[in-house]
Amino acid sequence: AGPCDIYSSGGTPCVAAHSTTRALYSSFTGALYQVKRGSDGATTTIAPLSAGGVANAAAQDTFCANTTCLITIIYDQSGRGNHLTQAPPGGFTGPDTSGYDNLASAIGAPVTLNGQKAYGVFISPGTGYRNNAASGTATGDAAEGMYAVLDGTHYNDACCFDYGNAETSNTDTGNGHMEAIYFGTNTAWGTGAGSGPWVMADLENGLFSGLSSGNNAADPSVSYRFLSTIVKGESNQWAIRGGNAASGSLSTYYSGARPSASGYNPMSKEGAIILGIGGDNSHGAQGTFYEGVMTSGYPSDATENSVQANIVAAKYVAGSLTSGTALTVGSSISLRATTSGYTTRYIAHNSSSVITEVVSSSSSTILKEQASWTVRTGLGNSACFSFESVDTPGSYIRHYNFGLLLNASDGTKQFKEDATFCPQSGLNGQGNSIRSWSYPTRYFRHYNNVLYIASNGGVDTFDATASFNDDVSWVITTGFA
Ligand code: AHR
Ligand code: AHR
Ligand code: AHR
Repeated sequence: AGPCDIYSSGGTPCVAAHSTTRALYSSFTGALYQVKRGSDGATTTIAPLSAGGVANAAAQDTFCANTTCLITIIYDQSGRGNHLTQAPPGGFTGPDTSGYDNLASAIGAPVTLNGQKAYGVFISPGTGYRNNAASGTATGDAAEGMYAVLDGTHYNDACCFDYGNAETSNTDTGNGHMEAIYFGTNTAWGTGAGSGPWVMADLENGLFSGLSSGNNAADPSVSYRFLSTIVKGESNQWAIRGGNAASGSLSTYYSGARPSASGYNPMSKEGAIILGIGGDNSHGAQGTFYEGVMTSGYPSDATENSVQANIVAAKYVAGSLTSGTALTVGSSISLRATTSGYTTRYIAHNSSSVITEVVSSSSSTILKEQASWTVRTGLGNSACFSFESVDTPGSYIRHYNFGLLLNASDGTKQFKEDATFCPQSGLNGQGNSIRSWSYPTRYFRHYNNVLYIASNGGVDTFDATASFNDDVSWVITTGFA
């Protein structure tokens, strides 16, 4: 059985079932998600390998070979058509064309399930999905349940990495107009024990960790690599539950009455579905989603415990974030452009600017050092890498406003993540393309000889599709210095 078969047996059927990694019904053979590639704008759908099985990631890899791919649709497996698509503007305007949010990279969150490769949905700040015309989801004070499997190590403190029930207008229509799973370290409304991240309920104008607004010490910090999260609510009753999605059982972090703050009892749920954003399209948050559902009715703890057992049996394991020529931590490298007409140029810094410069064996020692980088274990994720300046130890290549800079590490989570990059086989067939860990739609790209993290066909000038594959492909050589 799949999670939704279990919810059905419990009398609380799924009304929305989303996953890019696997079928959530044992008989499901339809489309799990759609990807769109950068080379020609073509789309394809990815289905399970077999009924009830893991997604056919190899089909995605073939379709997306030597180009970029975005996840355009996360299909609803429940049969109700409650698909998730690119979120439109609302209280906040998104960064993409016409104020839409960005779409997720199709390769930001590789995993295996029982040894079979699949991809999750890696939400960078600015990314979001939504459905404002969902059918069958809870409205008003009606009962519902939700679970989601997330990456407990991918989060931030912005508003709001959510999955669940929200406004149909993309705007904040008042207390009690949402009921969604939240995960992260936002402290503007509620907190739990320790320094987070926490699973909380986004009920609109408040992230709730328990009965009262503010701190509820029974809601623990949880950072399992694969994290099971649950929020459910019915008339004057709601709960938060969670656990390790790779082993063991769920714990109940809160179960009891609705918050006494005005507007949350009864609830005024509107029934739209969001992923990666707040109800008003707040889009500063980050996180990773693998699978999740919304139900009709308030699931029993026993039903959810069976769902947890099913998730554990799916055997989620982290996949490789890198491919192509392997890098050796501690070695010095230089990175040569492969765009025709620019192949004598290497990534170098001039003070804090990161640019390309013509470098050769007869260049000055100063220039050779400016174009040489010590490979370090990724400051923000040890599965990827950081690049420390040979002539300025302690300073690393990092992105800032999507430009690359050489900055001294300030030790913050933000800096470490901005300085973490995952090399993959070069998109033009040469060398490596260097993907941002935190914005996996974006790669080291030279544009007018200046370095950016660029997305293929994005809104900025440096995102131009012309010459994209060449501009993001770098031959990695032994460092000049
Ligand atoms: O409840 C927290 C957030 O507040 C909601 O997600 C958003 O709509 C509002 O800004
Ligand atoms: O480069 C994108 C973002 O810009 C970085 O993550 C952040 O440090 C800056 O605001
Ligand atoms: O960085 C040099 C060139 O500038 C790039 O190849 C091109 O995309 C841009 O015009």
